[in-house]
Amino acid sequence: MPKKALPASMSARLLRSAKKVMKNAHAPYSKFRVGAAILLANGKVFFGCNVENASYGMTNCAERTAIFSAVAQLGPKIEIRAVCVVNDHGVACSPCGACRQVIYEFGPEATIFFQGADGPKQAQITELLPEGFRLQ
Ligand code: THU
Repeated sequence: MPKKALPASMSARLLRSAKKVMKNAHAPYSKFRVGAAILLANGKVFFGCNVENASYGMTNCAERTAIFSAVAQLGPKIEIRAVCVVNDHGVACSPCGACRQVIYEFGPEATIFFQGADGPKQAQITELLPEGFRLQ
């Protein structure tokens, strides 16, 4: 059964938080700052920004920064209800493939808010990542 839609006040709060944390990004190489805010099933909100590195492949996306921060704080039993991602170019930007898999690990029913080609969009993680990987 699909979960109840998120109240507009909560998606607005996630958007504000994502925009705020975006300013902390370390993005000297791409000059593309990204912020993410995640809402957990327990009501808590965590934040992350992208953190790049001179060794480009070591870059961590905003979404994974937020999720790893939540796990570090609360342990691995977190359940992600929603993820909101923004960027400072105002261009289309949905979570990358790696982040989709990480979101799926902790939030197989998560709703993702992001900038699509034609404006703000929302989708279920299972729409963005059909047949996500699970080890069991
Ligand atoms: N990036 C994110 O943080 N999240 C996304 O959803 C897409 C891409 C970052 C990674 C890199 O620092 C920069 O954006 C350009 O790819």
